[in-house]
This record gives sequence, C-alpha cells and structure tokens, in this order.
Amino acid sequence: MRKKITIIGAGNVGATAAHWAVSKRLGDVVLLDVVEGIPQGKALDLLQTGPVAGCPYRVSGTNDYADTAGSDVVILTAGLARKPGMSRDDLLSKNVEIVRSCAEQAARYSPEAVLIVVTNPIDAMVYTAFKVSGFPKNRVVGMAGVLDSARYRTFLAEALGVAPQDVNALVMGIHGDNMLPLVRLANVAGVPVTELLDAETLAAIVARTQKGGIEIVNHLKTGSAFYTPGLAAVEMAEAIVTDAKRVLPCAAWLEGEFGISGCFLGVPVVLGAGGVERIVEFALTEEERAALAESEAAVRRQMAATGL
Ligand code: NAI
Ligand code: 2OP
Repeated sequence: MRKKITIIGAGNVGATAAHWAVSKRLGDVVLLDVVEGIPQGKALDLLQTGPVAGCPYRVSGTNDYADTAGSDVVILTAGLARKPGMSRDDLLSKNVEIVRSCAEQAARYSPEAVLIVVTNPIDAMVYTAFKVSGFPKNRVVGMAGVLDSARYRTFLAEALGVAPQDVNALVMGIHGDNMLPLVRLANVAGVPVTELLDAETLAAIVARTQKGGIEIVNHLKTGSAFYTPGLAAVEMAEAIVTDAKRVLPCAAWLEGEFGISGCFLGVPVVLGAGGVERIVEFALTEEERAALAESEAAVRRQMAATGL
C-alpha cells in the first residue's frame, strides 16, 4: 500500500524534508504552504527528479488541506524561524497560532496520521498540536533529539577522528540551552568516549551541542538550519511508514516516565507504525536527573505561555 506523507510549510525545512522523502522513496509527498505558488513550484521541481533519481512516487504542491486527506504521516514545519539575536522562545506567540491552525486542519483531513512537529519552540509547539488535534499521545511527536544528537555525534566524531556513524550518543530534554547531551552513555562502537577524550574536550563538545542551532543562525543570518532538520524529520517519518521500531530521541508526552508527567520532553522512544510505541526508560544519575528537571521547568514555562 502506497504511503502518503504531507509536509506543512514549504520553506527551508519543509522543502528539504520533501527532498529527503523523495530521495528515500517513502511514498507520495504533498507539500502545503499558505503562500500560493511556492509549494506548487517546489513540488513540480522535485517531481521532475523522478526520472533521474528513479523515484516512482507522486509529489504535489498545494494550498488546500483537502489534498492532504488520508496522509499516514504529517510533518509540521510551518512557522517563523530564528534570526540572529532571537531565542527559540521569541517565536512562541506567532508560531502557536500557526501551529494551532495547521494541526487542526491536518487532524481534520488525516485523522489516522502520525503528526511530527518541527516548528519552534518545539516542546511547546508539539504540546499545542497535541491539544488541538485531539490525537492520542502516541500519534503526536516532536523532532529535535535526532537533530541535537546528530550534532553531538558529529562533534564527537571530529574530536575522535572517526566516522560519525560509529558514534552513538543521546541528547535528552528540551530543544534549548538546557538540553542534556549524555556524556556517560556516549560511545564509539561500544567504547565509552570518556575513555578516549578528556573532560575538558567533552565539556566543550557538550556546550557546542547545546548552542548548535544558534551557531548556524549566526552564520546564515537570514534563518536557521534546514538540511539536518529536514533529514531528521524524514528519518522519523521513515521509521513510522516502514514500521521499523527505530529507537530515536524524540519529544514525547510523558506520563510518569523518568519521574515526569504531563509534558513533552526529549527521550528515547521506539518509533513504528503506531507512532511512539514505547518510551525507553532507564536509570539516570543524580546529576542527569537534576539537568532533566531544569529542562522540564523550561518546557513548563513555554507550555504556560501557549495559553492552552
Ligand atoms: P521558513 O521561513 O523557511 O519556512 C516556513 C514556511 O512556513 C514558509 O514557507 C511559510 O510560508 C510557511 N507558513 C507560515 N505560516 C503558515 C501557515 N499558517 N500554513 C502553512 N504554511 C505556513 O522556516 P524554516 O527554516 O523552514 O523553519 C520552520 C520552523 O522549523 C521554524 O519554526 C524553525 O524554528 C523550526 N525548526 C525547528 C527545528 C527543530 O529541531 N525542531 C530545526 C529547524 C527549524
Ligand atoms: C536548530 O536547532 C533552529 O531549532 C533549530 O537548528
């Protein structure tokens, strides 16, 4: 059965996600934006990669949610992005209204979909989508941990002089300065990085990971990262449409896991056809628990600001 993936927001992240989805041959892709012409033009351009890339699927652009009907996965990227000097929280008041309307429409036309939210500030926007969609907790999930962990793995691999795919490392918590790149669990092909790198180098890598988004914003000046964010969202979509049971760090609704209830926070989850099928819980050290509590407090402040 052909899968259908809708991407809302045909800007940098949305269009890049569409590109990755076509490259990975995930299924039919619908690109939707509020601006007339942009999703149509980008989708037509992507469709024409088909003969060269060997992709058999449809790619279409639209401004009408009726064209998204029956999607298996909806990736929500619509909203403002950061510019230099802006925090992710500065986006909240504008993006909450955008995410609210997009999630309502997406849920109406694709009531069985899994909703992957990308718009920032992500932990509050995924909460907004959860509230307005009325979807069960397993079918609303936020993308940040895959991106933050990719940054962490990249910086570790550079310091170690090894291939990045051999570095396993997890970032938990909020997508913001209080995120928690776990040093204790990071390893290269099973060897703990604490055996290979000194504490000062590791602390610098953790700090760079926590500021990974703004480092790119400061280079670009006109917006934020999109290649890895687009791929990260598609990696999650791929796990869902192929029922792969991938274990990926995602913003998931917690009900007692890690001692936290009633908020979205980045944790390792099993992603499959049912969306977030399970949260992979494990014992944290005292220090890690305290860091996660700081993340939780920051997310709760954002949630309160949504007014939901
Ligand atoms: P962009 O400005 O390139 O694209 C945003 C698109 O959303 C535009 O095409 C705009 O027309 C569209 N849009 C605005 N309101 C809409 C509506 N009501 N319905 C449909 N489309 C609408 O921004 P970019 O770089 O694609 O980033 C999008 C969002 O993703 C931002 O909030 C950004 O902060 C966030 N982001 C989150 C990441 C994460 O790790 N969670 C990583 C990277 C970006
Ligand atoms: C990032 O971390 C903008 O949140 C986005 O690149």
